[in-house]
Amino acid sequence: MTATEAKLLVAKRATEFIEDGMAVGLGTGSTATQFIQQLALRVEQGLRIRCVGSSKASHDLAKSLSIEMTTFRETPVLDVAVDGADEIGPGLALIKGGGGALLREKIVISAARSFIVIADSSKIVDRLGRFPLPVEVIQMATPLVERKVRDLGLEPTLRRDKDGSPHVTDEGNYILDCACGQIADPEQLAASIRGIVGVVEHGLFLGMATRALIASDEGVIEKMP
Ligand code: A5P
Repeated sequence: MTATEAKLLVAKRATEFIEDGMAVGLGTGSTATQFIQQLALRVEQGLRIRCVGSSKASHDLAKSLSIEMTTFRETPVLDVAVDGADEIGPGLALIKGGGGALLREKIVISAARSFIVIADSSKIVDRLGRFPLPVEVIQMATPLVERKVRDLGLEPTLRRDKDGSPHVTDEGNYILDCACGQIADPEQLAASIRGIVGVVEHGLFLGMATRALIASDEGVIEKMP
């Protein structure tokens, strides 16, 4: 199975968890994009839902596919959020933010009663840390945060766009991709990074996923925390 086929498989399965009347958080990235497209097909067939996007890209895509969008003012509690991940570790601890949308993704997921993570099996790891941990930072604080992140033993690299300029998130911040090596204690690392002034959010999503749908050659495997 190709990666695209795997993503499509879990995206389709995830739509089965979406019921009429639900408020749904839409993730960001290539797997979440497949989910949004599959969801749009169900909306075309009459499913009535309202959604909040976790990035401008996901919001715009959903809107272009005639999915009704809402806001947290109108809909402060979502029934479910569906999103991809860069790594899925034990207990469904995740690294996210490879697509640069970690801040809004965490906001959307935190507003949801449940969070289904969808991925292909290449994202499963025994221990988090193979994927560099994205950390979103206030632009002017970036040099200070870089030093403090190094003090924690991480190796930060400022994310850049193809033209070489620093990547700017939907919220106007920079991202430091922090090589961690295997993360022995994700909770402790999350707390240490959170404690650095100038950090807006980090890509450790701990205790948030309530279910994982993983595509493998045997089909979709469901995992619970
Ligand atoms: C976006 O910021 C990320 O958190 C994505 O959810 C993550 O990078 C997974 O992306 P893919 O589905 O494209 O692998």
